[in-house]
Amino acid sequence: MALLETRNLTKTFGGLRALDDVTISVDQGELVSLIGPNGAGKSTLINTITGMLEPTSGDVTYAGTDLVGLDPFEIAHLGVGRSFQTASIFPELTVRENVQVAAFATEHGSFSVNFFKRRDGYDDVRERTERILETIELKDDAAETAKSLPYGDKRRLEVAIGLATDPDLMFMDEPTAGMSPGETEMTVSLIRELLQDWDMTIFLVEHDMDVIFDVSDRIFTLNEGAIIARGTPDEIRNDPAVREAYLGGGEI
Ligand SMILES: Nc1ncnc2c1ncn2[C@@H]1O[C@H](COP(=O)(O)OP(=O)(O)OP(=O)(O)O)[C@@H](O)[C@H]1O
Ligand SMILES: [Mg+2]
Repeated sequence: MALLETRNLTKTFGGLRALDDVTISVDQGELVSLIGPNGAGKSTLINTITGMLEPTSGDVTYAGTDLVGLDPFEIAHLGVGRSFQTASIFPELTVRENVQVAAFATEHGSFSVNFFKRRDGYDDVRERTERILETIELKDDAAETAKSLPYGDKRRLEVAIGLATDPDLMFMDEPTAGMSPGETEMTVSLIRELLQDWDMTIFLVEHDMDVIFDVSDRIFTLNEGAIIARGTPDEIRNDPAVREAYLGGGEI
């Protein structure tokens, strides 16, 4: 059984079909990426799955549970996380406090796929916070206020806050946007670690094609709200429809 499935998912804004009959599935432990030109509907797909937007029609199922109609908080409690936008960082709190707040907020979650890995109590929150800070390589900056972090570290703190909610499936919307090559490399190794050591399933939206081809098990390509291609990195690299959508038929 797929961990996540959408069936004929459609979202319209007035006359615009931002999502047009999107049917995809993601298996546990996979890293799938979603690519597509600006305005293709990538963020809308994430927002519709995670409950920020209500679909116009279609279904979303996570671990057998119907997500349509649930609010974002309920969906997060089921084990579906996302790396939050910078706006959700508390700038005056320290890095450690930011992670702790998110961890406390979701402690005692009632159900997740990895339910049995959970333990109750404050020790668990503290332990999880330290493990996250270590993984995200923010431990040395844990006592700094969030506002004092350089840009790349702030973006990684967003990922840390997303991780603090203890997700089994994590959505990341352009985690390397605006990062230097060094910061991007660090983020890619972090993504690998989440897959290997944290048994996570990752749904990545990214514009950096080197990152996409490097880390993805499978890639979905969205254009004008519709999936136009799906496959392995090699299949997508050589797909004429993908080349057409991106570069008018050129190389990717
Ligand atoms: N809340 C909204 N109200 C109206 N139109 C919207 C809304 N959100 C997105 N859209 C429109 O839906 C389409 C898809 O937008 P979306 O943000 O999902 O694209 P995207 O693939 O994430 O693009 P980008 O690569 O630039 O982030 C665009 O035409 C956008 O203008
Ligand atoms: Mg977007």
